[in-house]
Amino acid sequence: MSDLEQLVEQARQDFAAAASPALLEQAKARYLGKSGSITAELKGLAALAPEEKKEAGGRINRAKQSIEAALEARRAELRKAELDRQLAATAIDVTLPGRQRQTGGLHPVSRAQERIEDLFRSVGFTVADGPEIESDWYNFTALNMPDNHPARSMHDTFYLQGRDDVLLRTHTSPVQIRAMQAHVARYGTENMPDLRIIAPGRTYRVDWDATHSPMFHQLEGMWIGEKVSMADLKGLYTHFLRRFFETDELEVRFRPSFFPFTEPSAEIDMAFLTGKHKGKWLEISGCGMMHPNVLAFGGIDPERYTGFAFGSGLERLAMLLYGIDDIRLFFENDLRFLSQFR
Ligand code: PHE
Repeated sequence: MSDLEQLVEQARQDFAAAASPALLEQAKARYLGKSGSITAELKGLAALAPEEKKEAGGRINRAKQSIEAALEARRAELRKAELDRQLAATAIDVTLPGRQRQTGGLHPVSRAQERIEDLFRSVGFTVADGPEIESDWYNFTALNMPDNHPARSMHDTFYLQGRDDVLLRTHTSPVQIRAMQAHVARYGTENMPDLRIIAPGRTYRVDWDATHSPMFHQLEGMWIGEKVSMADLKGLYTHFLRRFFETDELEVRFRPSFFPFTEPSAEIDMAFLTGKHKGKWLEISGCGMMHPNVLAFGGIDPERYTGFAFGSGLERLAMLLYGIDDIRLFFENDLRFLSQFR
C-alpha cells in the first residue's frame, strides 16, 4: 500500500472511531486542516518537478476526495444515530391504554336536595341556611324547649367540648328562627309579605344503625302568612311528593304527634299505590302549625300571623327515590355505590 493509500485507510479508521460530531471534526482537522496530513502533501508538491507535479497532484487529490467522502459518510451516520437516539427517548407506546379523565358526580343526597330545591322554588319558596354549629338558644330555647324541658332528651345531642351553650344542631328547625328574624329585619312586622322557605342541611344526633346515621340531612320547610293553615300544608306537601316521585299514585296521611314547637303537630306518612313499596305507610316528616311562642321568638306577632313548618328526612326521601335500603351506603363513600349516580 502506498503512503497515500495508508493515509486514506487511517482516516477511515479515525472517522469510524469518532463517536461524536465534535470528535469527528477533530479527526478531520488531522487530515484536511491547515496543518493536516493531506495539506502537508499538497504543500510538498511545490518542491517537485513540473512533470512529477501533475501526476502526484492527481493522486493526492483523489486521496483527498476519498477522505472527504469518508468524512461525509461518517457525518451522516452520526446524524442518523443522534436522530434515532432522540426518537427512542421520546417514543410513545401507542398500544398502552390512554389515561382517562374521570368525571365525578353529585352525591345522591345532594341530587335529591337539588331536586327538592327546584321543586319548592317553582312554587315560590326560597332556600334558607343556618350554621351547623348552633347555639343552644336557636336549637332548643327559641323552639319552645326551655332548659330542662323533657323534650330535649328526645335529641341525643353532640355538644362542643367544654361548652354547654353550643352544639351540633340536632335538626334544621333553628333555621325557622333565623329566617323569621331576617324576614322581620328586612320587611318589618306591619305589612310583611309571606315568608316561605325551605332549609335543607346537615344535622347531628348520637345514633348509628341501619336507619340512623350520626350525621344526616333534614329538609325544613316553613310558610308564614296571614291565613296559612294546616290545609295549605297538606296540599303543598302532597303536591311536593307527587312531583318529587313523579307519580300521582301515592297517598299522604297526617298522624297526630307531638313537637314542642308546633301545635297541633303531626307526622306525615306516605304510601305508594303501586310498585315495590305498595300499600306500606312510610313516615317521612314531622310537621305542624307553628307554636305561638316560636313565632314570638322569631319576632312575629302570633295574633296576626300563622304558619306551618315541617322537617323531613332527606335520606329517607332519597332512599325511596333511588331504591336504596341502607342509609349507611350514603356515607361509606364506596365508589361502586356512588358511581351509579354519575
Ligand atoms: N325538627 C323536628 C325533628 O327533627 C321535625 C319538625 C320540624 C317537626 C318542623 C315539626 C315542624 O324531628
